[in-house]
Amino acid sequence: MNTTTAKAVSESASPAASTDPAFASSTGTPVKVAVIVGSNREGRFGPVVAEWLLGRVRGHEGFEADVVDLAEVDLPTSLSYRPSAEVIAELAKVTPKLAAADAFIVLTPEYNHSYPASLKNVIDWHHGEWRAKPVALVSYGGISGGLRAVEHLRQVFAELHMVTVRDTVSFHNAGALFDDEGAHRDPSVAEAAAKGMLDQLHWWAWALRSAKEVRSYGS
Ligand SMILES: Cc1cc2nc3c(=O)[nH]c(=O)nc-3n(C[C@H](O)[C@H](O)[C@H](O)COP(=O)(O)O)c2cc1C
Repeated sequence: MNTTTAKAVSESASPAASTDPAFASSTGTPVKVAVIVGSNREGRFGPVVAEWLLGRVRGHEGFEADVVDLAEVDLPTSLSYRPSAEVIAELAKVTPKLAAADAFIVLTPEYNHSYPASLKNVIDWHHGEWRAKPVALVSYGGISGGLRAVEHLRQVFAELHMVTVRDTVSFHNAGALFDDEGAHRDPSVAEAAAKGMLDQLHWWAWALRSAKEVRSYGS
């Protein structure tokens, strides 16, 4: 069972107010993006980065965000085609959000040169929910900034027929970059990186959603 006392992350992010009618008319309904907070470690730093990221998503046109916080989900590591009622109840916290999403942002720390087991577990519990959707990757850690975790996730997501967007945001020695209130001490570079990443994610989500409206994704 999940005994974490990890700090929670905001449940949702309101869609950004559209200030650009041309953007709205060219892209249609907002892209539903599920922001997956990958760490469930007791005393985790993840919520600080997650709140920063949600601020960037709220400030970007064309997204409607939902949060999947893995500290709030208690899935067993033993997979099953006949899950117990208890497991079905846990899946109900996450599966509908993944299924409804047009796109994902995965927030991952780096543990021992890769991403955490909590993230692999939720990935493996699902299949079609990921298929033919884009995913953006935001990472943090020690000196590496989680970049090795990101590259490992790209391999996993390719297997699930996902598109990983090229640009990422990474926080090296993350703890030192944010103040006690969770504000980034010198945000300009990270904000520019997030803007580029979110632009790419939105384009891919729009493109894939539009394509799937006229032709289902083949095997
Ligand atoms: C088990 C473990 C392994 C770690 N391995 C690495 C690593 O390989 N590279 C790195 O840069 N940081 C590593 N770190 C540091 C974490 O990335 C950093 O503490 C981060 O804040 C952890 O995210 P969390 O606090 O949200 O769980 C590791 C931390 C833990 C707990």
